[in-house]
Amino acid sequence: MKIKYLGLIAGLVALTLAAATSCSRSEIHLSDTVCLSSPDGQLCATFGLTAEGRPCYRLDRAGAAVVRTSRLGFDLCDGTSLKDGFTLEGSKTATADETWHPVWGEERDIRNHYNELLLRLVREDGVRMNVRMRLFDDGLGFRYEFPQENKLRYFNIKEELTEFAMTGDHTAWWISGDYDTQEYNYSCTPLSGIRAASRATRLSNASATGFSDTGVQTALQLKTEDGLYINIHEAAVVNYPTTNLLLDDRTMTFRTWLTPDAEGVKGRMQAPCVTPWRTVMVVDDARKVLASRLILNLNEPCALDDVSWIHPVKYMGVWWEMISGRTEWSYTSELPSVQLGVTDYSALKPHGRHGANNENVRRYIDFAAAAGFDALLIEGWNEGWEDWFGCQKDYVFDFVTPYPDFDLPALNKYAHSKGIRLVMHHETSSSTVNYERHMDAAYALMNRYGYDAVKSGYVGNIIPYGEHHYSQPIINHYLLALKKAADYHIMVNAHEAVRPTGLCRTWPNLIGNESAMGTEYRAHINPGHTSILPFTRLQGGPMDYTPGIFEQDMSVTAPGQTGKMRHTIANQLGLYVTFYSPLQMAADLPDNYERFPDAFQFIKDVAVDWEQSLYLEAEPGEYIVTARKPRIETLNEAARGVAALPDGKEDMLSGAARFVYALPESATARSLAGAKPKDVWYVGGVCGENAHETVVTLDFLKPGLRYEAVLYADAPEADYETAPQAYTITRSEVSAGDSIPVRMARGGGFALSLREL
Ligand code: NOJ
Ligand code: CA
Repeated sequence: MKIKYLGLIAGLVALTLAAATSCSRSEIHLSDTVCLSSPDGQLCATFGLTAEGRPCYRLDRAGAAVVRTSRLGFDLCDGTSLKDGFTLEGSKTATADETWHPVWGEERDIRNHYNELLLRLVREDGVRMNVRMRLFDDGLGFRYEFPQENKLRYFNIKEELTEFAMTGDHTAWWISGDYDTQEYNYSCTPLSGIRAASRATRLSNASATGFSDTGVQTALQLKTEDGLYINIHEAAVVNYPTTNLLLDDRTMTFRTWLTPDAEGVKGRMQAPCVTPWRTVMVVDDARKVLASRLILNLNEPCALDDVSWIHPVKYMGVWWEMISGRTEWSYTSELPSVQLGVTDYSALKPHGRHGANNENVRRYIDFAAAAGFDALLIEGWNEGWEDWFGCQKDYVFDFVTPYPDFDLPALNKYAHSKGIRLVMHHETSSSTVNYERHMDAAYALMNRYGYDAVKSGYVGNIIPYGEHHYSQPIINHYLLALKKAADYHIMVNAHEAVRPTGLCRTWPNLIGNESAMGTEYRAHINPGHTSILPFTRLQGGPMDYTPGIFEQDMSVTAPGQTGKMRHTIANQLGLYVTFYSPLQMAADLPDNYERFPDAFQFIKDVAVDWEQSLYLEAEPGEYIVTARKPRIETLNEAARGVAALPDGKEDMLSGAARFVYALPESATARSLAGAKPKDVWYVGGVCGENAHETVVTLDFLKPGLRYEAVLYADAPEADYETAPQAYTITRSEVSAGDSIPVRMARGGGFALSLREL
């Protein structure tokens, strides 16, 4: 990347060192103000100091405030305050305009274009604290930097005092502030309504720690009366706790509320060091929130030299049958307590409901292979599940010892012979200490048998006792696990881990996270949930939402269970396009898919890695319509990989090589070698509690070509409550400029594949 340092050259960046400027309209009086403009000149960030030397900033768009003058600073645990007494020693501007290429993503090229301002603050006592601001056309990022030459060396944070002063009682899509979980439904209220609604929004969770009725989590999506969409989040959380936001609902001012560690410390720092970026996106159209790459751009470039082993994954799981209650993770009922290494499972009678048994796993491998999928997750394969939930014990799992009825080498061999990789499951029971003890052996076992992806999980309260899922030591644990996985060429999909903040740019082996309410919550999920997540949780990175549930009635999937999920089948198909993830699951049971083979075809066909993405229509909680074009490189790799496969060799093709998804007929993929990929697009739509009519205008297709369009839509009578399985499939021939009208039912959606004829 080229960053040009401009010093104090006026022009490109509107920089002014003056007592007051046109940018500094505010109720807090500032001196020494410095202004920074976005590349397109629409946004203006102002930094200044109060009379007491307290650093502040504000953000304007087209001359009007988006963030009123807001204070910056810290209180430290030793009583030191980093709030005031600062003078501006100097400032430096820069600009960057680069295009980078994610290993996987919503598009092949991402533009990173910003103007930057570094403010060097100093105090008479020798404390130095810099603020670095980056202003993009769609928002602001800023962070604190503590340089080496500093009176501060080791220091512990009591509170980070960064404010975001809003200009009104905006509409907010929010979940309650929590130190341990994001597995909540979103609420939509004015800011003034958060306090009253907060408690009612909480679901019981294996580990949840709220802290205030006006605490909310990032990414927080807001909408102003004037139709501006503001999104407050953070980027690149490394060696620092995750923040919540605490709202003062008299002044409509948020401030950072960091997650404390077991001793109440909210950040143990050693200079030189930096904080995560605080971000405020502001755009005038909801679609631009979905198109924004602010969070990724504020993360460091890829840290890995070799990324050839990282690939998109479309997978199934021996999973929904446990989640639904049809089978279980555990093997036996004969155990009151388990001690690994002491308990002898071979002497125990199985209860007969163990899902991860050899026969069942082989059945899934056959099904996933026939569907052309890449991989199969198996949960409940390892000893310990009889005695873990809620017992808060340190050593639950060893991550290497299979149950007697799970033949790990033979099942991997069988899977590989069918072109399927098994996905490892490491439920850590939230004992990060135990996971760290066993991690090398666990990853080495994966290497030995050819697993290249792990789903990890952090259910329950964290051990070390008193830590939180979002506290600094545990943030460090997730990164340790990710880096170590990279050493072993293993891709990671972490559930219950901290919500992502764009680290997948730096560590692209982080192919997924849960970190929000996913389909495992079954009937608890509100219909509008999936039209909010792309505005909030997905801003930081892809989600393993586990879509594709065709049978909404839990009693059909698992006799004796109750509850009906609130979506239509067409809605589930639409999610494969509206939710970006390089890791996509077909989450339902094979027998549920066998009942709807024509709808299942879309899941088999759809791509998961994209050349280009277009956001056609969007409003949080209401609807999202997205069009995406599969990545050409992946197709070419598919062609090469398939051509290079020696007959009868059990070794796996790379997942990308197997991924010939964009050409549906290419399940017999050899025919693809050397072929010129056809132009293919997928369009998906989802909507919330209200039905929505949309018109897909095909102005993104190549002029002069004819395409086959296959539309999977809600049937006229479809409705998530009364007719969730009513869908239609319509084939037609279309070309660029044609329009396809589609009605999405309540809790509905649609999927459309467009393939050059
Ligand atoms: C919670 C995860 O989100 C879910 O996917 C998993 O099956 C269970 N924990 C068991 O590890
Ligand atoms: Ca979960």
